[in-house]
Amino acid sequence: MDKLSIEGGHRLEGEVRVSGAKNAALPILCAALLTNEPLTLTNVPRLNDVRTMQTLLAQMGVSLDMGTPGAVRLEAAHIGWPLAPYELVKTMRASILALGPLLARCGEARVSLPGGCAIGLRPVDQHVKGLQAMGAAIDLEHGYISATGRLHGTKLVFDIATVTGTENLLMAATLAEGTTVLENAAREPEVVDLARCLTAMGARIAGAGTDRITVEGVARLSGATHAVMPDRIETGTFLAAVAATGGRVAVTGTQPDALDVVLTKLHEAGATIAVDGDVIRLERDGPLTAVSVRTAPHPGFPTDMQAQFMALAARAEGTAVITETIFENRMMHVQELRRLGADIEVEGNTAVVRGVAKLTGADVMATDLRASACLVIAGLVAEGRTTIDRIYHLDRGYERIEEKLSGLGARIERVR
Ligand code: EPU
Repeated sequence: MDKLSIEGGHRLEGEVRVSGAKNAALPILCAALLTNEPLTLTNVPRLNDVRTMQTLLAQMGVSLDMGTPGAVRLEAAHIGWPLAPYELVKTMRASILALGPLLARCGEARVSLPGGCAIGLRPVDQHVKGLQAMGAAIDLEHGYISATGRLHGTKLVFDIATVTGTENLLMAATLAEGTTVLENAAREPEVVDLARCLTAMGARIAGAGTDRITVEGVARLSGATHAVMPDRIETGTFLAAVAATGGRVAVTGTQPDALDVVLTKLHEAGATIAVDGDVIRLERDGPLTAVSVRTAPHPGFPTDMQAQFMALAARAEGTAVITETIFENRMMHVQELRRLGADIEVEGNTAVVRGVAKLTGADVMATDLRASACLVIAGLVAEGRTTIDRIYHLDRGYERIEEKLSGLGARIERVR
């Protein structure tokens, strides 16, 4: 199993380019199921989760051409097998995103129930209830969601704003008969990017990016070409890393307006930030100040940045209160940060982080994707060597992170 070995204490300097967004690419790959014409995607990140989704689609009968680096051409001329098996769903919950498009296109779908995951229970009841309201007959048996029926438009009110739930129903609604209104919809930029791709395919969508999305169903969708949006969480991770180590970095090819609250918090922490088109420049030379964050659905502070900000607070001056409101078990990095010398107390889903003058390198273990990113940042500021085990979590969501950080002067290497 690969590990990352980091020698901490070096400032980051230079320029780094952000990859396409994992959480936009995954639903958009599934959108290929909605049409028998080719969908060409560019800026597709090379990540394990993306490869898993491509394997899943190929098993269903989608042909994939990945001849050009960073691009993929998908053609779902015939869907032979509208099934997402347990073996793939258990490795990647986002496989549930195949449910809506398969049902809308084929009138039937069978997708394994995802089950719990490290960061929380993560039920999919909102996806199921939504499809039922649109006319699907759904059976939950043998660990699978079996759905059949022709979908019709309706008004849906989500009990809870769910990102993949909104994406699943948005895709399903594009081919449903009549108009679907999604209320209390997720407003994340990745939902907007999916809507942009679906619109290019001929879907009729209004309101993406607000909590009320209206979709007028059409009889068929066509092929299209779409560039996946830049990864805002990868961007935020690099920015948090530079704020933590000190230094000066330009993050290029990004979408700054998707990061408003993260940039505000980094500024509060003592960083100087300048935005110029798709480039964010961050510099920190002065003191690093503790900043408190409370996660919330977009446009609030993203849960996917909570762990990285905890690493930042661990070395900052003062005390930060970090509250996780989206997932019930997303503080597993606390235990590992303590191994590096961090002073953190946890009560329920709130962590009180008292900044310490120094962290010291140690052997630590990654428990989930963003916890891994937190440990990388902590390793970059800790004195001495930090070795991070189980980095397969990191490879699910960060493209060549050790290469990109090395390019900024970090002493980081993958140990096979
Ligand atoms: N929820 C329900 N019922 C549902 C769906 C969700 O109760 O049917 C709850 C969840 O348990 C959670 C809350 O609603 O407490 C929000 O979950 P959401 O459905 O929005 O999460 P998701 O769609 O499963 C996506 C991202 C996550 C990210 C969250 C929140 C993808 C593929 N995944 O998950 O990304 O943390 O939204 O922004 O888009 C990551 O990249 O590290 C990651 C975990």
